[in-house]
Amino acid sequence: MEKRAVYPGFFDPITNGHIDIILRGLRLFDKIIVAVLKNPKKKPLFSTKERVGMIKAIFAREPRIEVKAFDGLLVDFAQANEADVVIRGLRAVSDFEYEFQMALMNRKLNAEIETLFMMPSVNYSFLSSMLVKEVFNLGGCVKDLVPEIVARNLKRKLARGKFILSN
Ligand code: PNS
Repeated sequence: MEKRAVYPGFFDPITNGHIDIILRGLRLFDKIIVAVLKNPKKKPLFSTKERVGMIKAIFAREPRIEVKAFDGLLVDFAQANEADVVIRGLRAVSDFEYEFQMALMNRKLNAEIETLFMMPSVNYSFLSSMLVKEVFNLGGCVKDLVPEIVARNLKRKLARGKFILSN
């Protein structure tokens, strides 16, 4: 039986921290489905199509990664995709409270689905999509923080004027 996990998030945009978690997950699972939330409460910089497209391009040569957009309940998406594990990255203790709440709510909604927390490399423990956008917007270098395709797309967006970043 294939071991499948879902790795959900906004990915606006995907960072090297997310990629680090996905690569660690591939050591444990046969298949990882990267689940990109379609309609976050906050307005994303990149459209759903752009966010999915960048992740697909990054993992184009890895057949064990699937990338899909989703809305609705994460546990329903996991079940529909025959995955019984949700992977979440924990960067610091500050992530814990929100993640703990989400994991227990997801368990309440579907007790068959387990949440697995993984720590990224310490090099990325300070990294978030929000900070990447802010730093880039203000002229900072994001070279070691995001894949090449993300840096290119950030540049393309910035060429049209500074981003309006919502929290
Ligand atoms: O990138 P993020 O902010 O860490 O991702 C949050 C995400 C997408 C994992 C979370 O918002 C989510 O699962 N949304 C789907 C809606 C849902 O299932 N809500 C109930 C679980 S608490």
